[in-house]
Amino acid sequence: MIPMTLDEIARACGASPHDVPDPGALVTAPAAVDSREVAPGGLFAATAGARTDGHDHAAAAVAAGAVAVLAARPVGVPALVVDDVRLALGLLARQLLRRIGPTVIGLTGSVGKTTTKDLLAQVLERHAATVATDRSYNNELGLPLTVLRADAATRHLVLEMGASRKGDLTYLTGIAPPRIGLVLNVGTAHLERMGTGRADVAEAKGELVEALPADGYALLNADDPYVLGMAGRTEAQILLYGRSPRARVRAERVRMDERARTAFELVTPSGRAPVALDLIGEHQVSNALAAAAVATALGLDAAEIADGLTAARRRSAGRLQITERPDGVTVVDDAYNANPESMRAGLRAAKALAGARRTVAVLGGMGQQADASRARHAEVGRLVAGLRFDVLITVGAGDPLATAEAARSSGVAVHAVEDVTEAIELATALLEPGDVVFVKASSEYGLGACARALATANQ
Ligand SMILES: Nc1ncnc2c1ncn2[C@@H]1O[C@H](COP(=O)(O)OP(=O)(O)OP(=O)(O)O)[C@@H](O)[C@H]1O
Ligand SMILES: [Mg+2]
Repeated sequence: MIPMTLDEIARACGASPHDVPDPGALVTAPAAVDSREVAPGGLFAATAGARTDGHDHAAAAVAAGAVAVLAARPVGVPALVVDDVRLALGLLARQLLRRIGPTVIGLTGSVGKTTTKDLLAQVLERHAATVATDRSYNNELGLPLTVLRADAATRHLVLEMGASRKGDLTYLTGIAPPRIGLVLNVGTAHLERMGTGRADVAEAKGELVEALPADGYALLNADDPYVLGMAGRTEAQILLYGRSPRARVRAERVRMDERARTAFELVTPSGRAPVALDLIGEHQVSNALAAAAVATALGLDAAEIADGLTAARRRSAGRLQITERPDGVTVVDDAYNANPESMRAGLRAAKALAGARRTVAVLGGMGQQADASRARHAEVGRLVAGLRFDVLITVGAGDPLATAEAARSSGVAVHAVEDVTEAIELATALLEPGDVVFVKASSEYGLGACARALATANQ
């Protein structure tokens, strides 16, 4: 964050100061919405979450070093009071960007945003000061918080942008107008809120490329027809990436090592160079090419990009996170979230990693699949059988039972348990040295706790 006085901040977001003894006091550290994450000299934004109201933590935030609180009402400590704290954070972020002007890179898609953002940040930060979204902070709250971490030295601002409904990306790109826009894929995530089909999802995600200027770049996945279809919705130059031969940034000679990591030859308009990824699963090729396309648009050559991709490591937890236990069990924690695309990619990656070893899948459901939910869960069960997993443990009533039934009738040994505690007990009892266990569900199933328990057992 570049230093701003409380008075400047108040003007940027139309706030009225309350209990502010010194309007000239400087905010020098980024904003936080969790009082435990406040940095001395920072700003605390009081928002109402599902469990707590930030206003109740205002005093604690100031005690922890916050210069003031951005709040919806006076809170008895120095506060900048606004009607809507989220909107105000957005206005402040917009103002900050006007002052510092880094190259804004927006990326969206149904799956792989965080993975790709982490890869891209690692490629770019070798060359110039880069600020990227932390974790998956990709919404109207997380995006301004990321922007507010940028300062005068920041050259690249990599922003993960989530779209759960139409208008979301128009709002986010209004706060941080991108010069470079990357669309990964159009899948079936968030169907319940967006409408009924992929065309609706594409309509919403295309708002990103609509926001790009004529001297900007739209990086589009040539392997996804819905993404390709966005080419007509932007003034920006288009650069296609993907496995398709028509893509200008593409992968050739893709192969997988014995630990399910992929290697390939990266081809860009500047030449070609070998990449060996540290991440597991063939789907990572698409994520890596997406990052390579952005880096190409920013002027990096094939060798620089390939080196950055090869040096990159997994940064975010719960995405195909691997733990090798001392007893020889490998735990693959993909429990951060799930939809049909990531379920397929994860099951395949775990099986590729396992080779001939015994494989156990612990699966909950995939949220937000609307009317197609039962059918999609049954498909997962058939895939578990088709990939020859040895054991399946499903967790929870409802949709996961459709997975269980389909797998059982295709010959897999299936156990259907009710909750995470039972899943941990059963998996712990079942696992034998040498097994590979894959754990995945939508976040609301809480299977992260199961993956962590299994990863730390027998230590
Ligand atoms: N290209 C891909 N195709 C299919 N699955 C993928 C791909 N990239 C990542 N995944 C899987 O999708 C899940 C989510 O990955 P990631 O967190 O990178 O996506 P995201 O788009 O940021 O998700 P969210 O919308 O929840 O923020 C993980 O299980 C990951 O392994
Ligand atoms: Mg994410």
